[in-house]
Amino acid sequence: MSDAEEVGLPAREAAAQFLEAALARRAGLDEALSGSATRGLSPRDRAFARALTMATLRRLGAIDRALEPKLQRAPPERVKTLLRLGMAQLFWLDVPDHAAVSTMVALADRVQATRKFKGLINAVLRGLQRDGKPADDPEALAPAWLMARWQTAFGADGARAIAATIALEPATDLTARDPADAAALAELLEGEVLPGGSIRTARRGDLAEWPAFAEGRWWVQDAGAAIPTRLLAVRPGETALDLCAAPGGKTLQLAAAGASVVALDRSADRLKRVTENLARVQLSAEVVTADARSWPDKRTFDAVLLDAPCSATGTFRRHPDVLWAAAPGDIASLAEVQTRMLESAAGRVKPGGRLVYCVCSLEPEEGEAQVRGFLARHPEFTLAPVTPGEGGAPAASVSPEGWLRILPQHLDGGIDGFFAARMVRKT
Ligand SMILES: C[S@@+](CC[C@H](N)C(=O)[O-])C[C@H]1O[C@@H](n2cnc3c(N)ncnc32)[C@H](O)[C@@H]1O
Repeated sequence: MSDAEEVGLPAREAAAQFLEAALARRAGLDEALSGSATRGLSPRDRAFARALTMATLRRLGAIDRALEPKLQRAPPERVKTLLRLGMAQLFWLDVPDHAAVSTMVALADRVQATRKFKGLINAVLRGLQRDGKPADDPEALAPAWLMARWQTAFGADGARAIAATIALEPATDLTARDPADAAALAELLEGEVLPGGSIRTARRGDLAEWPAFAEGRWWVQDAGAAIPTRLLAVRPGETALDLCAAPGGKTLQLAAAGASVVALDRSADRLKRVTENLARVQLSAEVVTADARSWPDKRTFDAVLLDAPCSATGTFRRHPDVLWAAAPGDIASLAEVQTRMLESAAGRVKPGGRLVYCVCSLEPEEGEAQVRGFLARHPEFTLAPVTPGEGGAPAASVSPEGWLRILPQHLDGGIDGFFAARMVRKT
């Protein structure tokens, strides 16, 4: 009997709850993964539930495309959930076909409201099994509205290349506290050092048990997420402000470079992670709970980083739920917040100081449009173009204007999508 066969109904019930939470609201998956659905599950069941949910989310577009012609009318939500999870198990997980089908039928049987759909679930999943694995079509993987946006912004080929990375499970990227330690860490962790210094490893499992974790020699940070901070090139003794700091990857980079750092975030809860992370890697920062738009502090800084809240569409490799939880209206309302945050950030930069604005979004309203608007409103700032290769930025991501538009296909093995621009305040 395979491992997956031994994993029983409780793990699959948890996966159903995870999937429904992921599709119901932004951040729903994170809440569910740490919530009551996992209570009582063994570590192996929890890992299976998570893997099943992630596999389903990574292929959701293709799954729904295959399911649609098999259903004459929309079934209740839970039945749709079981069909989606069943199809993911049939084709993308190491689960025997009979177990993929019988477990979904058994879950339907548990609840009065879904019991009468047992026959439908069995017939549809058997039908899908007979049809065979759907051909890989990147365009089926993203919601149509996002695909259309990416086609407008990056062309048809660019959009297809972005979508093709949705199905790929990413490796883990780490940042070394001391850049000179990267090569030694890569060896310890069976990884490789990427341009810019991030370490990429195919290791899986509990991070806390990986070499050099307890010594605080590294932290987890996608290679794309590590690039914007490097553009600030902070020097020991400089002052730096991280205006949206939690959970803290960029704060750690600033502190590791020797800056005297203020790490601000609106969420006291998320800031606890910053404090914990700082303690583990033995670095320090002044941690402040405040709204970046109205923080009354009058200090100015050599380097200001604004990693603004955004639609996070660039992070779908690690968080495929962002594709399905995002809605078109979110982008416009987040863009308004970003504009207001940039206004506040501007006043906190010393004459001659640098401001880096970044978002983990692929949407131009949250990136290029923000910086164009900012520079038009603030003649006291000039764009300081990023030079090719700077900070480990892939060559393809450096735009003619001199900002970064990092797309997931810009690095072999993938990289999180980011926009980043550096501005300098005139003296
Ligand atoms: C993209 S995340 C920051 C990630 C972080 N820079 C890192 O590298 O780990 C955005 C953060 O902005 C915070 N945030 C949202 N609105 C805010 C506001 N008005 N003022 C300050 N922080 C805010 C959120 O709590 C969230 O932690």
